[in-house]
Amino acid sequence: MSFRSLDNADVKGKRALVRVDLNVPMQDGKVTDTTRIAEVAPTIVELADKGAKVVLLSHLGRPKGPDPMLSLRPVTAEIARIIKRPVAFAGDCIGPMAQTAVAAMKNGEVLCLENTRFHPEEEKNDAHFGKQLAALGDIFVEDAFSAAHREHASIVAVVTASKLPAYPGRAMKAELDALAKAFETPEHPVAAIVGGAKISTKLDLLGHLLLKVETLIIGGGMANTFLKAQGKPIGKSLCEDELVPNARDILAKAKSLSREIVLPVDAVVAQKLETHAPSRVVSVDHVGPDDMMLDIGPRSIAQVVSVLARTKTLVWNGPFGAFEHEPFDVGTTSVAEAVAELTASGRLVSFAGGGDTVAALNVAGVTERLTHVSTAGGAFLESLEGKTLPGVQVLMVTETPGTARE
Ligand code: 3PG
Repeated sequence: MSFRSLDNADVKGKRALVRVDLNVPMQDGKVTDTTRIAEVAPTIVELADKGAKVVLLSHLGRPKGPDPMLSLRPVTAEIARIIKRPVAFAGDCIGPMAQTAVAAMKNGEVLCLENTRFHPEEEKNDAHFGKQLAALGDIFVEDAFSAAHREHASIVAVVTASKLPAYPGRAMKAELDALAKAFETPEHPVAAIVGGAKISTKLDLLGHLLLKVETLIIGGGMANTFLKAQGKPIGKSLCEDELVPNARDILAKAKSLSREIVLPVDAVVAQKLETHAPSRVVSVDHVGPDDMMLDIGPRSIAQVVSVLARTKTLVWNGPFGAFEHEPFDVGTTSVAEAVAELTASGRLVSFAGGGDTVAALNVAGVTERLTHVSTAGGAFLESLEGKTLPGVQVLMVTETPGTARE
């Protein structure tokens, strides 16, 4: 299986239906974080420069039917600002309004269609709705990795219910390349950092990673459940008691596979989760009954950094502590700085992703210095679980002689 390449696509004069993820944070009708728009801008500009009529397709939020608060119209203005050219807007993504707007386009122009989720058929992956969307394009370009885990019509049926040739856009391709480099052809040893609050959302992920990495570093609230499984005192720390047996299973599986699991050896504890709450550092053997572990301590940081120094490829999802509240950001920030330094000096290939992880890397100011940072949340997690995302599946083509593919 492989993917078509935009390098080989003759798009001049063609209608390129481009699925982007414009599910961006908004406040008072204004986009407050343009990262996702900036990510897809190169694909839009490239297609427009090659003479395509670029028709953008996206959802925004989780509307139950048409909702003016979740219109993509204000986002369109932001796209125009970023790609430095006009972007027209159509008040529907199918039907006469969309058809008329697309028919009026000239080569090199860009049009954004209204929120696909204004139609309930979108989330049902309705084939007829998919066909209606597909009728607006000659080729389909999927550049919304962060929505590729959704089996929705503008991601799946638009391709499966039509004959549109589907291409990964540049941002999508970068994500696919990064995942392949991390999991298919990584330089060993490979380590993964899995942090965040809960094991319950990451059981599949931990199971899959154990098969792929030499070392699994566990941090954040989820480490507490593992520490409890090892019989350590955890005081009032966050813990999923019902998952202690699962944590024990994971520890046993790691042992039988000869994988190393790295857990905190010390912690920053406090009695309240709030910024600048009085805190102290204790060994994980001496957590008091009223203590909450809110970050890893200095010995744990040193331990993680020494593992990273002998690691060649790192995959990172989830922070080490309650990084939104100083001083409980120190563990995550210190590890992030070490990762950035090792990456910049060519000793480590580093991949990170997930909403909290990206926010933590931004707090540490190192995002640009990692090899690849994915802004995707659920899609990144599902990829790390070893799943083939529906939005990636539809891009896969079987090799046929004479077709240039990547
Ligand atoms: C995201 O923001 O993670 C994607 O756009 C998917 O959005 P959803 O979780 O509402 O499907």
